Amino acid sequence: MLEIKDLQVNVDEKPILKGLNLKIGKGEIHAIMGPNGAGKSTLAKVLAGDPFYEVISGAIFFEGQNVLELSPEERAHLGLFMSFQYPIEIPGISNLQFLHAAYNAKLKAKGEVSVSEEVFQKILDDKMALVDVRSEFKQRNLNEGFSGGEKKRNEILQMAVLAPKLAILDETDSGLDIDAMRTVAKGLSSLMSSDNALILITHYQRLLDYIRPDFVHVVIEGKIVQTGGPELALILEEKGYDWLVKN
Ligand SMILES: Nc1ncnc2c1ncn2[C@@H]1O[C@H](COP(=O)(O)OP(=O)(O)O)[C@@H](O)[C@H]1O
Ligand SMILES: [Mg+2]
Repeated sequence: MLEIKDLQVNVDEKPILKGLNLKIGKGEIHAIMGPNGAGKSTLAKVLAGDPFYEVISGAIFFEGQNVLELSPEERAHLGLFMSFQYPIEIPGISNLQFLHAAYNAKLKAKGEVSVSEEVFQKILDDKMALVDVRSEFKQRNLNEGFSGGEKKRNEILQMAVLAPKLAILDETDSGLDIDAMRTVAKGLSSLMSSDNALILITHYQRLLDYIRPDFVHVVIEGKIVQTGGPELALILEEKGYDWLVKN
């Protein structure tokens, strides 16, 4: 469903991604690990279409479409979903309003009629139960005053509402205690099917105890230098990244 070929990306004229290749198939969970500054978040930003990141060469295809020619909105409507390391706060907009607008925008892009807030509330209630989010989340302003764990759970709720084909979660586990991580992992697992796929960018192996990846990739200095199964994450936990740099 996603194919990244020889992706080279600059930030402020400095090469950050230096020929990254990655293929993701339906139903797969991929973990992307690597030291700080390796370019993991840069990859997520480029997939989202952040104009700050300059694509020098390479290609990204998603469901047969050339992603680099699409606006961030068009990418979202194709079924790409991104959550970031530092979620934004929007004062004055409730979660319910935000999710309702996002849901209707998706319907519109598919040429379908939008739904009223009343109808959407019912859809939202089902999704909240599915990912185990308390109903008070509905009326609270988007991410305002949310704890780290609440922001992350809210992202999983956004995912549940938008039902993306491919979700890319950047350090969703950062700042979560074990219980919150388990809840987030359980919510994520409940959203996975043979039709969608997930990229988990993560610094630590912990999250992968709760949501098992099919593939683990290691990014170092802007390239994937190693790919393996879940066991690779355990090796990294034990040995760090240095042994890969020296190879
Ligand atoms: N918005 C930005 N402004 C300046 N430098 C950036 C920005 N985004 C990324 N970089 C640089 O690109 C490199 C890779 O960063 P990043 O993709 O965030 O790494 P990772 O997520 O793997 O820790 C770093 O050297 C970082 O300083
Ligand atoms: Mg990062």
